[in-house]
Amino acid sequence: MAYSETLWRRETPPDLRETFDWMADRYVTQTERVSRAHYREWMDHVTRLVAGWQPQSVVDVGCGPGYLLQRLKRAMPAATLLGVDYAPRMLALVDPAIPTENRSIEEWARGGQGHYDVILLTFVLRDQPDPVRVLRDLRQRLKSGGRLVVLETQTPSGWRKPGFDLYFHEWLPRWGDLALTKDWPPNHGIPPYRWLSQSHAAWMRARLLPQAFYENDYVEVERHRPNTDVVMLWSARRP
Ligand SMILES: C[S@@+](CC[C@H](N)C(=O)[O-])C[C@H]1O[C@@H](n2cnc3c(N)ncnc32)[C@H](O)[C@@H]1O
Repeated sequence: MAYSETLWRRETPPDLRETFDWMADRYVTQTERVSRAHYREWMDHVTRLVAGWQPQSVVDVGCGPGYLLQRLKRAMPAATLLGVDYAPRMLALVDPAIPTENRSIEEWARGGQGHYDVILLTFVLRDQPDPVRVLRDLRQRLKSGGRLVVLETQTPSGWRKPGFDLYFHEWLPRWGDLALTKDWPPNHGIPPYRWLSQSHAAWMRARLLPQAFYENDYVEVERHRPNTDVVMLWSARRP
């Protein structure tokens, strides 16, 4: 399928920042439950991948409460770390020893100073109205030879697909309404786990991701998890 930028364009609810602020306190425990205890393993995989490159500087964009940053700090105590997120209540939960910036991806990518060896986007790219623009913007903040890493949900291919579809698009939205976010205020927009399911459905176009990397002048585009998995992990290098 030929890559077309229009395929990626879609609406993001205006209240997503408030949604993540509202979710902040419960984010890690619920992500562990919703991922059926795989969240830790995924973050450990990202940590091993990044530590293997021995970077001096790493920024986690859309870092949430800093679960991954904490692991990176343990694995690479000498590296300079930074967390960026537009939800202040998420940043309030990050280890105070790790510096943070309360900015949107766009503001940070276009308005900031300095270049990094590694930029991380874990469970963030999928929610952006224009993921390709994010790839393009973040490239400007990578050092020459630096790497962008993307971890995202993916609909597995093969025998796991029907079970995944049932879980993600039938069970999860209901579980969210009935238990996980049953205190979601009325008239507050789409509830978080209903949004997660919808956002993932649009993200099906993510199979275009490798091509989007190449078209934005990244090289060494590498997949680090199989397409039978429920998450995808990619890295790409700035020449
Ligand atoms: C699903 S959470 C992922 C948190 C963490 N990266 C992880 O893997 O657990 C998405 C995070 O990205 C932040 N985020 C989403 N879109 C953003 C944007 N455009 N600018 C800055 N932060 C954003 C949200 O506030 C939230 O904390």
